[in-house]
Amino acid sequence: MDYNKKIQKAAQIIKRAKGLYCLTGAGISTESGIPDFRSPKTGLWEKIDPIKESTVQVLYNNPARFYKIAFPRYASFRNAKPNNGHKALVELESKGILRGIITQNIDNLHYKAGSRKVWEVHGNTRKSYCVGCYVEYPFDEIITQLEKGIEVPQCKKCSEMIRPDIVLFGDSMPDDYYQAVAEIREKCDILLVVGSSLQVQPVSTLPGMVSSLIIINLQPTPYDYRAEVVIREKAGKALMDILTYL
Ligand code: APR
Ligand code: ZN
Repeated sequence: MDYNKKIQKAAQIIKRAKGLYCLTGAGISTESGIPDFRSPKTGLWEKIDPIKESTVQVLYNNPARFYKIAFPRYASFRNAKPNNGHKALVELESKGILRGIITQNIDNLHYKAGSRKVWEVHGNTRKSYCVGCYVEYPFDEIITQLEKGIEVPQCKKCSEMIRPDIVLFGDSMPDDYYQAVAEIREKCDILLVVGSSLQVQPVSTLPGMVSSLIIINLQPTPYDYRAEVVIREKAGKALMDILTYL
């Protein structure tokens, strides 16, 4: 089936949806200049090993390493801007077609784009907190302290370490994840997957919970065989093109 036919088919499926939700991954943000993790050659994990660097073990046992190697990526999101993919999802939500977004991304771009219902199942880079007394800080408090040459950002109240409010390998899942699972189980009949390799548990179990999938992804995913339509196109273009039929 050619590209335009797939776009029209995706729009028809969306039109019949009783509960349309969108699951996004790093692939929706590459057009904003943020590299994803697993794209061949450009994916971040080709350069640093996530299991070695972005983990709670490294954060707690070797925090200076964590803030030197894993952290710079999180700081790089500050100036990134939402792209057409994020904007198309805002439009779908404002038309009352999309009920909400489950995102694995911590780059705040759905939030910046103006999406209202977003479950950030891997956390976000707007907040941070002290691991000792749990007092909250803006994410930028970490950047400010690192820029002053402090190796491990410290709480102003109890001097314990401040950490970003994101889900590292080894962290437990946040409330947003459980709320998203409940919502999907109860209300979702069509899940639009955009820019995710669907390889990381437990989020990669979500597409298995719904009866109908639309996948927009440049590379194959383990769920392609189950999708009603798979669109191998950039998210920004594909989502804007689908919008023209809705
Ligand atoms: N349009 C469509 N698809 C794209 C685009 C684009 N512009 N750019 C990249 N992709 C696709 C890639 O082909 C890839 O399959 O997006 C997918 C991104 O997959 P990953 O890099 O694995 O990112 P993601 O699925 O979000 O990873 C999940 O893994 O390391 C952890 O916590 C991290 O949240 C992340 C999780
Ligand atoms: Zn503290």
